[in-house]
Amino acid sequence: SVVRRTSTSGASRLTRRQFSSEAAPERKVAILGAAGGIGQPLSLLMKLNPLVSTLSLYDIAGTPGVAADVSHINTRSQVAGFAGEDQLGQALEGSDVVIIPAGVPRKPGMTRDDLFNINAGIVKSLCTAIAKYCPNALVNMISNPVNSTVPIAAEVFKKAGTYDEKRLFGVTTLDVVRAKTFYAGKAKVNVSDVIVPVVGGHAGITILPLLSQATPKANLSDEEIVVLTKRTQDGGTEVVEAKAGKGSATLSMAYAGAIFADACLKGLNGVPDVVECSFVQSNVTELPFFASKVRLGKNGVEEVLGLGPLSDYEKKGLEALLPELKSSIEKGIKFANSS
Ligand code: NAI
Repeated sequence: SVVRRTSTSGASRLTRRQFSSEAAPERKVAILGAAGGIGQPLSLLMKLNPLVSTLSLYDIAGTPGVAADVSHINTRSQVAGFAGEDQLGQALEGSDVVIIPAGVPRKPGMTRDDLFNINAGIVKSLCTAIAKYCPNALVNMISNPVNSTVPIAAEVFKKAGTYDEKRLFGVTTLDVVRAKTFYAGKAKVNVSDVIVPVVGGHAGITILPLLSQATPKANLSDEEIVVLTKRTQDGGTEVVEAKAGKGSATLSMAYAGAIFADACLKGLNGVPDVVECSFVQSNVTELPFFASKVRLGKNGVEEVLGLGPLSDYEKKGLEALLPELKSSIEKGIKFANSS
């Protein structure tokens, strides 16, 4: 078969492997919220992914344009745009992976929880449709507050009788991307070699980078660790403030979302040892959902990996985040069951 050689520069992890697109199985990826700030660059990056055979772009409006534009790129996938609720079923049908960046982003002064009222309703209705049209898809939840929208999705799927905890993921990859970038800068190591697990949740202090486990090892002072931890936790706010009312991270989030979806596709395709951090149903702590390293496989989550050894600073961070994360999870569950 013909091996298509892809560029190894730039977004290396997206294109590093050399693929035979003929041999790769058919995979449909749907993006819900595809016309938005994250949705558009994410559509572009997923169009570049040779593991995708069908790319389905859904939003309440604007997707025909995004789809026409992206469809002219000469890569494997067929692209279709769907706009409005009456096309949602068609957009979802047969999807292997559904990525959800639908909803409103933060403005300066807002926390992710301030988005709850609008985004909770959007996520609930989209997940109701997923349960109906593609109940076996892996769901990659980007819409904030992830600490609450993932529990909402779980409740919706439970009610529909389709819940499979192996197939629901809160996308926390941007926290990992940030931790890697900030660590590499401080530790003066090659950023492409860096590995840093980030655990907990996806908001403020619930984001806990495990810098004691970062590799390549560097001798950072306690003070530097505190600065790096806080910068990772506040990375989203850094972007929200710099954009001054025009939204939150979109380009770096699209990159992170593409990395995570690629990992899901590799897992589905049977590539061994695919590990990413994600906010999933978990027994790692007493909370029902928690972000930690997850091994991905043919059914989604193959194994939720434990935290490993923590420094005293990380142990304190873990203790401190549990109550906030617990209440965000409970808020999501309550919303799903009351409305
Ligand atoms: P945006 O406002 O630019 O785009 C959101 C898109 O969702 C819009 O095109 C809108 O039409 C669409 N949408 C609204 N209701 C919908 C529905 N019912 N069905 C389908 N689409 C719908 O916002 P942006 O910047 O793209 O952010 C999207 C979400 O991602 C926000 O909730 C934001 O907080 C979250 N986010 C998550 C991050 C993470 O690390 N998990 C990082 C950055 C943002």
